Amino acid sequence: MTAARIAPEELRSHQWYGTDGLRSFSHRARTRQLGYLPEEHLGKPVVAILNTWSDINPCHVHLRERAQAVKRGVWQAGGFPLEFPVSTLSETFQKPTPMLYRNMLAMETEELLRSYPVDGAVLLGGCDKSTPALLMGAASVDLPTVFVPAGPMLPGHWRNEVLGSGTDMWKYWDDKRAGLIGDCEMGELENGLARSPGHCMTMGTASTLTAAAEALGVTVPGASSIPAVDSGHDRMAARSGLRIVELVWQQRKLSEILTAEAYEDAVATVLALGGSTNAVIHLIAMAGRSGIKLTLDDFDRIARTVPVLANLRPGGKYLMEDFHFAGGLPGFLARLTDVLHLDRPTVAHDTLREQLDGALVHDSDVIRERDHPLADEGGVAVLRGNLCPDGAVIKHIAAEPHLLRHTGPAVVFDDYKEMQRTINDPALALTADHVLVLRNAGPKGGPGMPEYGMLPIPDYLLKQGVRDMVRLSDARMSGTSYGACVLHIAPESYVGGPLALVRTGDLITLDVEARRLDLGVSDEELTRRRAEWTPPPQRYERGYGALYQDQITQADTGCDFAFLARPGEVPDPYAG
Ligand code: FES
Ligand code: MG
Repeated sequence: MTAARIAPEELRSHQWYGTDGLRSFSHRARTRQLGYLPEEHLGKPVVAILNTWSDINPCHVHLRERAQAVKRGVWQAGGFPLEFPVSTLSETFQKPTPMLYRNMLAMETEELLRSYPVDGAVLLGGCDKSTPALLMGAASVDLPTVFVPAGPMLPGHWRNEVLGSGTDMWKYWDDKRAGLIGDCEMGELENGLARSPGHCMTMGTASTLTAAAEALGVTVPGASSIPAVDSGHDRMAARSGLRIVELVWQQRKLSEILTAEAYEDAVATVLALGGSTNAVIHLIAMAGRSGIKLTLDDFDRIARTVPVLANLRPGGKYLMEDFHFAGGLPGFLARLTDVLHLDRPTVAHDTLREQLDGALVHDSDVIRERDHPLADEGGVAVLRGNLCPDGAVIKHIAAEPHLLRHTGPAVVFDDYKEMQRTINDPALALTADHVLVLRNAGPKGGPGMPEYGMLPIPDYLLKQGVRDMVRLSDARMSGTSYGACVLHIAPESYVGGPLALVRTGDLITLDVEARRLDLGVSDEELTRRRAEWTPPPQRYERGYGALYQDQITQADTGCDFAFLARPGEVPDPYAG
């Protein structure tokens, strides 16, 4: 790249360190207190390394070391790295769901970058919501930014079998419930499911969103599929550190990378990966922070133009390490060049075309040829109908095909606790044809849209061999889950969406090919039921939960906070 470079006096951090006043004197004195010489930082780009490392987050537990590799790169390139610990969103441990805190990490990211002397940012994360949270916040500040994906953990192993995160946990848990395996096997599985630091190594939400970040162009090439414990992951982190310093000198801001074309390409990538349904919500929210209106219809439109090429669990066979050795995201994108916008810039290259030059696929069973796809259309379908006027999504490639066109009687659960209490009660007399309906699990009603969308199949049906049923909710589903689960129904039931009006016994029709989800109840009857409906009580009376319930937007618009999603200027914090 031959872009013009700014002078040291034009660095944003110069206002803090380089002027004549008392404040600059104080900032320099306090930097001496930190142990740095003037020549170590004055006139150099200050790079904030936002680190989501924590002892509680197994997906990010290696990031403390990885930040050192980023620093190495920054120093080598003549920058001044400063590490900032930020909230960790552990998909496994944080309850009721880290989705409740995605926007909090986004706010923390935005406000830290804005309020400190930062010229550029390197963001470290990867466990599910961390990626969108960090990028949403960074997009709102718009400094030069590089994202360092945490990387997938090693493949799971048990006896002679390869295990995938989440996916195989659900599978073996169902086997245990069906009486096929016992405590001894479960004990072994406990040791074998997750063998190293790193995020889930299926094409779950984490792998989907880090791949989306690479497709957007905010990582160095190939970053997203490198296993977390591979030495290449250290080298990628160092490369990111080298790169950010150059981006600061060139003032290549995040908004130059996160364009409408970039978001379209991220959508195409996610769909061709057969990625997580969560990506729909996150990419819409991220695009919103970039001032770009991405809609559910964009997903459905693009889904019809891209086949599923990644043979990865939960929809396919392989895991992320296989994908990495098969060519990783660069090889994968090289098979999609006809649908991508190749002339847009990335953090590493002037154009995506240049970035993909020479990218190869080494295993065409893992990354399929275009004429031999896993599915002819992208992995997510957007549904409409009288049950979801503002849309709903289904990952149809992870469902049993015979359920993709299905009519059956509803069995309604008013909330998750009721569902847990009653689902196995034989008195409900459920059959494989029933449609399980869960409500009050949406953005406001959950709150936070917990991943309740893969409703459990009753024990007695599992024992009869039933492994999939049509299930509906306003919740989300883990990216490692599977089944005929209709998710993100909007508007949600808590705010009076039609889902709130369904009654046990009503007939529900799902038709994925027609993109329809309909309740077989007349408009007159629905109007009558609506008049009788009263909103459920507020779950949080104070604190962050109350702010969340007050500000959260619906699933079809990305679940950002209304006051963050609206356009407008934020004053520069440095008053001179
Ligand atoms: Fe962190 Fe799955 S639990 S990515
Ligand atoms: Mg997950």
